[in-house]
Parts: sequence; structure tokens; C-alpha cells
Amino acid sequence: MSDRFYVTTPIYYVNGAPHIGHAYTSLAADVVARWKRLEGHDVFFLTGTDEHGQKVEKAALDAGLDPQSFTDGVAGQFRAMSEALGISNDDFIRTTEPRHKIACAALWTRLVASGDIYLGHYEGWYAVRDEAFYGEDELVTNAHGLRIAPTGAPVEWVREPSYFFRLSAWQDRLLAFYEANPDFIGPGARRNEVVSFVRGGLNDLSVSRTSFRWGIEVPGDPEHVMYVWLDALTNYLTATGYPDPDAPRAGFWPADLHMVGKDIIRFHAVYWPAFLMAAGLPTPRRVCANGWWTVEGEKMSKSIGNVIEPSALIEQFGRDAVRFFLLREMPFGNDGDFSRRALISRLNVELANDLGNLAQRSLAMIARNCEGRLPPMPVPLIEADTVLLDQAAALPKLLGDAIEVQAFHSALEEAWRVIRAANAYIDHQAPWALKKTDAVRMGAVLRVLVEVMRTVATVLQPFMPDSMARMLDQLAVPAEARSFAALAEPLADGTVLPPPQGIFPRYVDEVA
Ligand code: MSP
Repeated sequence: MSDRFYVTTPIYYVNGAPHIGHAYTSLAADVVARWKRLEGHDVFFLTGTDEHGQKVEKAALDAGLDPQSFTDGVAGQFRAMSEALGISNDDFIRTTEPRHKIACAALWTRLVASGDIYLGHYEGWYAVRDEAFYGEDELVTNAHGLRIAPTGAPVEWVREPSYFFRLSAWQDRLLAFYEANPDFIGPGARRNEVVSFVRGGLNDLSVSRTSFRWGIEVPGDPEHVMYVWLDALTNYLTATGYPDPDAPRAGFWPADLHMVGKDIIRFHAVYWPAFLMAAGLPTPRRVCANGWWTVEGEKMSKSIGNVIEPSALIEQFGRDAVRFFLLREMPFGNDGDFSRRALISRLNVELANDLGNLAQRSLAMIARNCEGRLPPMPVPLIEADTVLLDQAAALPKLLGDAIEVQAFHSALEEAWRVIRAANAYIDHQAPWALKKTDAVRMGAVLRVLVEVMRTVATVLQPFMPDSMARMLDQLAVPAEARSFAALAEPLADGTVLPPPQGIFPRYVDEVA
């Protein structure tokens, strides 16, 4: 098995500012990337912006700007979102970059050469908001009697010359591909949805447009620009240096994981593998779709005015609290609701009380009663010690298994099970009482707690990188000993611990 691991976020449309929906997909991918690095993989983590197409062109026009200046501005906001969230991407791709135009032209040329692209005429419905074509039978009628896309997007009738991708010819091969690769689509419900869509039959896909200019020119036919989804999906290849087989990152293809939202699973799980198979290129190993966030029970939308911008949240609550909340609150794959009250409650109960107090209580006692030095492990261990230490030792595997199937909320739940058990342990062992009766046992109890917190902080690094780094600093774990492998090596007895400092302050809501 290769130790390379390539994970991607969707590339974001630059027609509007980043919101928590975008933040969530990026965070999910970031946890995977950070986890894989701690496991020792050579990780390539990609994010970026999707800058072509009618939707972006229209947004630029509405803003009174030419598309390039407009996209430069909004791409900057997405870059800033990544930085603010602590996303550890290794590259940020923009589809307006020259390297991407080269990759798209190369892929297109291969698809023409393989006979999978032909010139025809497109007549049908198009939804600019979704950048998607819809069949007559897919449309629905809204309350005003208007025909709209199943997603609620307005549609327009389009009639123009167009190149087509011979998608209809790929139905059987796609079904065989899903059959042979049962883990290609996650979670399971999405897989069933995709399989039944493909079973229902596939039409050839229009892959070029002539009615607007903001796109990548079709090689040899500059009247046409490429359909924005063919352009966009190719970003994942571009970043590996495609078509140069000797590019430094060429070995990262195929991608191990495309993290996407549920609305774009069809593009990633049907069109993308079909394009790749047609071009004779390896297909990605997995596409996993998250659900959607609503806000205080309502759909997030500019017109309702309830769009939550990650930067504002981070400013108020701190980066790690936002990361923790988003990943903890929504069972991955399901939809979730963002509410201020839920965020504050998780912050105060799970971060400040459960984890913050555990660290504070134990470390303050070591500072006061053990000269700030790590006391030795209990000899012999009593059952309560073993039970808790074993529970902690099981965490890397338990969280790893959950993260492998993108069950981030369960991964966090596993960690909290141990944190709660550690709090129960400290209450039962009552080291403050032992102080007077058995100082050695008091030290031993505190040492068990340090070992448990070390494991907890190590496995939580991908979720809350800053605060877990601070916690590991306080436990005097050297920077080079923070991988899972390093957990096997116990900390040295007598190590001096820095003076303890609170990690998660309670949030006092002025509004409530
Ligand atoms: N540009 C395309 C993706 C191309 S990938 C080759 C696109 N961009 S997007 O900006 O509209 O959406 C990007 C991601 O954000 C999608 O995965 C989408 O599901 C996610 N979200 C947008 N709104 C969301 C919520 N309200 N909740 C959760 N995720 C949401 O699609």
C-alpha cells in the first residue's frame, strides 16, 4: 500500500462570500489530512476556487466588475477562510490559473481522441445557479406555476451548438465500477442514490457552451468554452501536475478521497469517473458527501439574511471552538442545524467543563503538590487505573476507524467517552483527599491522568490543532513526540511541567 494520501475539498464558486457550509466541507477534509499525517502518511491536501461559468460571470456583472478582478477578490476571501479556520492545505488551486487551462486542454484532447466527445446541438433546460442541465422529466412546478429545477433553481431553455460527452455509453461500465468498488461512494445512502440514478439510464452530456465567454476555450474551436463542471472536476488532476507524468506530485493521482457536499455527489460519482475512465486515467478511491447546514432551523440564504460567515464566528468563539462545534454537532452525512445556543452549550459543557477542567484540575494539583514534576506511574496499577488507561489506549484505533468512514461526530464522541471517564476517575480517586493520607498514590493518580490526557490531546490534534498543541505543551510532550507512534513511548518521570493555564475559557453570553 502506498503511504501517499491525497484528499481534496470541492473548489468553491466565487459568486459569493464563504459561509459555514463551505467551512464544514473544508474542515472535514482538514481533519482527514491532519489525521493521515499523524499516522505517518505523505499527505497532499488540496482546496481552491471554481472561477469559471455563467454563475460567476453573472455575479461579476452584478458587481460591476470584469470577471477576472471579481474572481481575484472573492478567491482571496476563500483563501482567508482557509487560513482563519486553520485548514492545512498544501496547495490552493484557482481554475483561472494557466496550469489548469493546460490540464483541461490535455484531458479534452484525450477525450476527443478516444471518441468520447463529439460535436452536436444542445436544446434543453439549464439552471445557471446549479450549473446543471435538467431533463424535462426532472423539472417540478413551483407555487407560482413556474417550471423549476428539482433543487429549486430557475431554469432557462438553451439552444446552441455543443460538444457532447458520450455518457450514455458508460452506464454499464459505471455500474460495474460501483459494484467492484463498494466503498467508492459514502455514506451508503448516497451510494444507493447514485446507483439508481445511473440504472435509470444516462444521456450524453453537453460539455461546451457558446452563449458566454467566461470559461476555458475548447482546443481547436474557440467559439466554445468548456462546461464548467468538466473544467472544475479537472482541478483535482491539475494539482498533481497533469499532464506531466514527471511532475513532483504526479504520484498522488488517483486521489484517495474527494470530500463533497450532498448536492454535488452526482458530478463526482458519475461524471468524474466516466470522464477519467474514458481518458484512460485511474479513478479516485472514494467520494464522500456531507449533509447541509440549516441555521436556527431555516435554510441558509442571502435573501433571508441568515448566512453565517466563519470569520465572524471565529472572532467571537475562537477557531478551535468553531471547528469542534461544526464537526461534533452534525452527524456526518446527515443535515445539521446551526444554532448559537447549541454552540455555546457545547463550548461550555464539553470543552470548558469536561476537557478544560480535567486538565486544569490535574495539572494544578501537580503544580502545587508534586513540585510541578511528573510523578511516577502507579506500582502496581489498580483496576481503576488499568480500565482508564486501556480505554485511552484504544482511542487511536477507534478514532482512526471512524475517520476512515468520515464519521467525525462518532470520533469525537469516542474521545469524550474517555474524557468523561477520566473525570469520573478523578472524582472517585479523590487525589485531594489522598494528599493527606497517601501522597504516593496521589501522584500515581495524577500520572495516570496525565497519560490519559496526553493520548486524548494527541488524537484530538486534527480537530483542534491550536488548543491541543497548547495542552501537549502543558504536558511537556516534545513537538516531535506528538504522532500516534510516539504514544508507545511513556513520558519521563520527573519531567518538569510548565505552570498550568486554562485552555478553554467558559463563554459568557451577553445576549442570553
Ligand atoms: N464549484 C462547485 C464544486 C466544484 S468541485 C469540482 C460548488 N461550489 S459551491 O461553492 O457551491 O459549494 C461548495 C461546497 O459547499 C459543496 O460541497 C456544497 O455542498 C457545500 N455547501 C454549500 N452550502 C452548504 C450548506 N448550507 N451546508 C453544508 N454544505 C454546503 O458546488
